[in-house]
Amino acid sequence: MRGELIIGNWKLNGNLEFNELFMMNLNRGLKGWTNDNRKIVICPPAIYLHQCNSLLTDAHILLGGQDLSTEVSGAYTGEISGQMLKDFGCRYVLVGHSERRLHHFESNQVVAQKTLAAIQAGLTPVVCIGETQAQQSEGQTVEVLKEQLSDIFQVLSHEDCLKIVIAYEPIWAIGTGITATPEQVQSTHAKIREEISILHPTLSMQVKILYGGSVRVSNARELISLADVDGLLVGGTSLVVEDFLQICQIS
Ligand code: PGA
Repeated sequence: MRGELIIGNWKLNGNLEFNELFMMNLNRGLKGWTNDNRKIVICPPAIYLHQCNSLLTDAHILLGGQDLSTEVSGAYTGEISGQMLKDFGCRYVLVGHSERRLHHFESNQVVAQKTLAAIQAGLTPVVCIGETQAQQSEGQTVEVLKEQLSDIFQVLSHEDCLKIVIAYEPIWAIGTGITATPEQVQSTHAKIREEISILHPTLSMQVKILYGGSVRVSNARELISLADVDGLLVGGTSLVVEDFLQICQIS
C-alpha cells in the first residue's frame, strides 16, 4: 500500500569515472527487472547530479540530493536550493542526516525548515532521525525521536505531512557494521507510527518509514520484510554496485 524505497546515499564519494561505471552497471543490472511497488533513489554528491542524471536509462531509478538549503536564493555562499536540485533531475532529498546534524550543527529547527523548503520546491524530503548509543543505552530512543519529529510536524500542514518520508537511522548503526536487530527496528518503527498517529491519526499508516544503518546484502531481506519497514537507506553498501543491485532486487 505504502510502496517501498531503496535509497543509496553516496555521501562524500564518487568521481567522474566511478560514477559512469556505476550508472552503467546499475542500468544494466536492472534491465528487465520490474517491481511497480519499489523505487530506487541514488543520492550522489550534488556536483555529480547532472552527470548521473544524463546516464540514467532505467525508469526505476530516481535521483536525490544529500542536503538542501533552508533558503530559496540570495547571499548564502556554498548553499544549494531545492529548486536547483530539482533543475538537475532530483525528486528526493535527504534532510537532517546525522552527519549533517553532527558536523554542520543542524538543529531540529533547521531540519524542520529544510523539510519545508524541500516540499515547497516539489521534492520529497527523506527526514533522517535517530538516537546516539548513549541515548539508546539510557532508554531514551523514543523520546529523542519524538523530539526530532515534533519540530517538523509543527511547521508542516497536515497535507504536507503526507509528503514526507522518514528514515530511522540509529546513529550507533551508521557506518559501524552494527545493525539494529530486526526486533529493535520493528518495535521502533511501530513506535514512530504510534507517535505520528497521536498528531495525525490518518497519516500514520500512510507515511513511509525507512531503516538505515549498516544495511548489507546479508541483512537487507529480513529488514525490508518487517511490517513497519517501507524501505532502506543504504550508505557504504550503495557504493558497491553488485551489492546495491542485489538489495534493490530483493523479492
Ligand atoms: P551506512 O550508512 O549504510 O554506511 O551505515 C547509512 C547512512 O548513513 O545513511
